[in-house]
Amino acid sequence: MARIDVTRGDSHVPANLAPPEQLLEAALRIARTATPAPRRAYAETRRRTLSRRGVMWLGQTCNLRCHFCYFLDRIENATHIEHPFMSLDKAKQICRTLREEYGNSAIDIQGGEPTIFPGIYELVAYCREIALYPTLITNALALAKKENCVRYQQAGIRDFLISVQGLGPQHDMAVGLEGAHDKQMMALRNLQEVGIPFRFNCVMSKSAVPQLPAIATLAIEVGASAINFLTFNPFEDQLAAGVRTDRNVRTPAAS
Ligand SMILES: C[S@@+](CC[C@H](N)C(=O)[O-])C[C@H]1O[C@@H](n2cnc3c(N)ncnc32)[C@H](O)[C@@H]1O
Repeated sequence: MARIDVTRGDSHVPANLAPPEQLLEAALRIARTATPAPRRAYAETRRRTLSRRGVMWLGQTCNLRCHFCYFLDRIENATHIEHPFMSLDKAKQICRTLREEYGNSAIDIQGGEPTIFPGIYELVAYCREIALYPTLITNALALAKKENCVRYQQAGIRDFLISVQGLGPQHDMAVGLEGAHDKQMMALRNLQEVGIPFRFNCVMSKSAVPQLPAIATLAIEVGASAINFLTFNPFEDQLAAGVRTDRNVRTPAAS
């Protein structure tokens, strides 16, 4: 898979991008399955409660380079203090603290990319053991291999929050890797077949905006249990002059 070298923080609309409906159809050809596992039944309710969900950043090491990522500096700078993954022992200790001191009952594990953390399956199993229900926030590249999905299920994963940054070349360009979208669609098919629930995250970068309705339809068609459309968050890395511009973020003045 070839890297796509894109300017940081800019919004890159791929040349000759097909209409969203066409890209959705192509995505569904990969992501749909004729043999889904039975799905967990949810009871509908209007009751709202605050969840006791903690979050853990394992380190800013990643296998992708999303042009808008608020951690891009740390990901590209191997000497940054937050770049390396923490040890498995330290990650377990943080989980214990979240469970025992803060009374959390669920955790979002992210990075960087949590699926490339050494010991990730052991960490997921540990969370489950201490009743801290684990979610991984992931680009899902690793889940294109079905055996990895099975291992996560055996370890006790609760669900995945998958970062869908667009359809077809839009996703590939946003994350800087050719073929990343196709792999993500394979991951969606695998998760349905293995029977692991998943949700979507989608950053509303300017070039993704025309595709948002199609991304919502994809979520419904493949059985995602929720979709979060995230407003672009200019974290401190984005404060450099010119990085956040009306080329990458929809602003009232530019829209
Ligand atoms: C930093 S990523 C790390 C986890 C994993 N590598 C992934 O791609 O999902 C966690 C979430 O933050 C979102 N994100 C990254 N940069 C963002 C930004 N500038 N504004 C809003 N959300 C952002 C991503 O879309 C992703 O869903």
